[in-house]
Amino acid sequence: MRRGHLVKMAVLLYRFNSFIKGGFTTMSSEVGNGEKRYHKVASVGEVPMGSGKLVEAAGQKIALFNFKGEHYAVSDMCPHRGASLAEGFLDGGKVFCPWHCFDFNLKTGDCTMVPSLRIQTYEVKIEGGDIFVAC
Ligand code: FES
Repeated sequence: MRRGHLVKMAVLLYRFNSFIKGGFTTMSSEVGNGEKRYHKVASVGEVPMGSGKLVEAAGQKIALFNFKGEHYAVSDMCPHRGASLAEGFLDGGKVFCPWHCFDFNLKTGDCTMVPSLRIQTYEVKIEGGDIFVAC
């Protein structure tokens, strides 16, 4: 391989890493001044145990899950290639991407397969049979 190709590959890798770090590593569900706002996104009956649902709150696409009776909310877009994580499958407290099976912890957003990848997580609360997400 020629040196020029190696340099181009290094630049592309650097840009990809910068994109991943800048675009998908934030974990806070706080807005501007640190204040959290809860948005009603679904009723409890709309997300049966073991399933996911795509919802929107404050202009963000959010994957809502019911794992063993606990509700979790994470950013919907997989940071690998953009699949909808709401269509993924659940196992061991993680959502597995439907396209290439990268795993993301529902509580932390951490990815075991590629530790540099992470998805945003959101606080969830249930009130009166409705599900609220803070964002
Ligand atoms: S698009 Fe999610 S793992 Fe590839």
